[in-house]
Amino acid sequence: MIIAIDGPSGAGKSTLGKMLAKKLGLLYLDTGAMYRAVALAATSSGTAFEDQSAVAKIAEMAKIELLGEPDDLHVLLNGDDVSAEIRSFEIAQAASVVSTNSDVRKTMVRHQREIGNAAPNGCVLEGRDIGSIVFPDADIKFFLTAKPEARARRRYEEDKAKGRVTTYEQTLSEINERDQRDVSRADSPLTIAEDAVVIDTSELDLTEVFDAMLAKISDRRVSASVNRN
Ligand code: DC
Repeated sequence: MIIAIDGPSGAGKSTLGKMLAKKLGLLYLDTGAMYRAVALAATSSGTAFEDQSAVAKIAEMAKIELLGEPDDLHVLLNGDDVSAEIRSFEIAQAASVVSTNSDVRKTMVRHQREIGNAAPNGCVLEGRDIGSIVFPDADIKFFLTAKPEARARRRYEEDKAKGRVTTYEQTLSEINERDQRDVSRADSPLTIAEDAVVIDTSELDLTEVFDAMLAKISDRRVSASVNRN
């Protein structure tokens, strides 16, 4: 079973994706972490993001591995554990720039399909283009969204807990900047797949969203088995 979860940053995709993977015994693939790893590789090698072919080569050559359980996921770049480093504000912005590079996207999509298809019980993939490009035939597609203010509020609370010095206004402006880049890029912009289940999480708590997602998955399984019989 392939479950696609797309949506803007801060809508709850990671938390809910991990919860679903655990509950259903599926692999969890955070595709944003892969773009972040490419951004880190480019930054560490001093490559300018404008040098499209050099960045594409870095993506092609980079060995990116996602290991461990959903709750304790480790991202390895060429054998080094970069799980913490890729979560910085600078790398988030760099990943959103690097992800506009079509050749980088081709490499990542190929990699993501291989990982998803090889997962013995199936996979929950979370990103921006999963339902539209990576797995257009996913068994179920979710698009999680929330008002920018709600997403900024959550992200601000998370950052504060991690000790980052920031303000709510700054977080909101960073979210708006990243959203703008993610929806306006030419290749695979953030879009809602036609057959996606859209959930606005602004006014819902985690359990409500999780239950709604599980209910949709179970409906889909029932109708798939009815159609088979
Ligand atoms: O989900 P995230 O914040 O970790 O993603 C980092 C960046 O990577 C984000 O700005 C958009 C990009 N991305 C993408 O273009 N396609 C994906 N499938 C996942 C992430």
